[in-house]
Amino acid sequence: MAEQPRICDYEGSDYRTRFWEGQGRNYEDTVERQVLHRMLPNQGHRLLEIGAGFGRLTQEYKMFDQVVLLDYSFSQLQYAREQLGDDGYVYVAADAYHMPFKPATFDCATMIRVLHHFEDVPSVLASIRRLMGDSGTFILEYANKRNLKSILRYAVGLQKWNPNTLEPVEFVELNYDFHPSYILRELHSVGFSTREYVPVSWFRIGAVKSLIPDGILASMDGLMQKTKWVVTPSVFTRNVAGGSQEDNLQIDLHDIFACPLTGGPLRREGNLFINQDGIAWEKRDGIYDFKQLVKGN
Ligand SMILES: C[S@@+](CC[C@H](N)C(=O)[O-])C[C@H]1O[C@@H](n2cnc3c(N)ncnc32)[C@H](O)[C@@H]1O
Repeated sequence: MAEQPRICDYEGSDYRTRFWEGQGRNYEDTVERQVLHRMLPNQGHRLLEIGAGFGRLTQEYKMFDQVVLLDYSFSQLQYAREQLGDDGYVYVAADAYHMPFKPATFDCATMIRVLHHFEDVPSVLASIRRLMGDSGTFILEYANKRNLKSILRYAVGLQKWNPNTLEPVEFVELNYDFHPSYILRELHSVGFSTREYVPVSWFRIGAVKSLIPDGILASMDGLMQKTKWVVTPSVFTRNVAGGSQEDNLQIDLHDIFACPLTGGPLRREGNLFINQDGIAWEKRDGIYDFKQLVKGN
């Protein structure tokens, strides 16, 4: 079997309290919500939030009838479910390289602050494209290697890697920054056409954030985004799925699943989902758990 890409495992992580709550990132959070809101369609049927984490941004997707939160971490999803409940939301623990859904099941997908953990970008983008109906919207945020700080650091010799080259840079284990042209090329090669890109988080500098109130910084960010100058640490892109894949949007929400290993059908028996080889996964604590096998090998 081919070697599987490594996964950055957030199981049991304190990401929410260590990184967001009370950690001085209201400005980044506000700006991300604003850009997301501008890029999302006004209404939709079924949205897939890939790497949803603890559900920080999930409330932004209220214009969709159904929202599927997918994350590799069961514990992050448990917290999200405690906050959001089950009405309109479905929780799926799974690996984004092997998502357990039928093709063309979603009219929208988002992936925010997640791609930087992927060592095999072409593979995860191809998995996402397969799940999108024709003309579906995919909003992708990525960490930009060609940002002002890295350009300056490289220029004065404080950083070895070159921000202008296309290949991803792994600056910490399983944390990657990407060149904008690399991301556009990879999106295009799996069948997405990029309609819009927005450089965000212009003022992600401690001293600036402590001096200027979050709301003002967010407004200033909005102005800078209009320059389209892609030198920020974070970039949002809005992409449309091309091709002629008939969509599966009308299928019942509880019928959207397919085998994460083969893409083949799954038989449902109570809380169990069983593939043609007898391998099974289960729904437990209100979360569809496609991370852990309960039967098979
Ligand atoms: C930095 S957090 C971002 C969470 C959320 N999108 C946000 O912006 O608050 C990254 C998330 O990606 C998830 N993740 C990383 N690798 C994954 C994979 N292979 N499949 C599914 N989720 C993954 C982690 O479990 C984690 O919850």
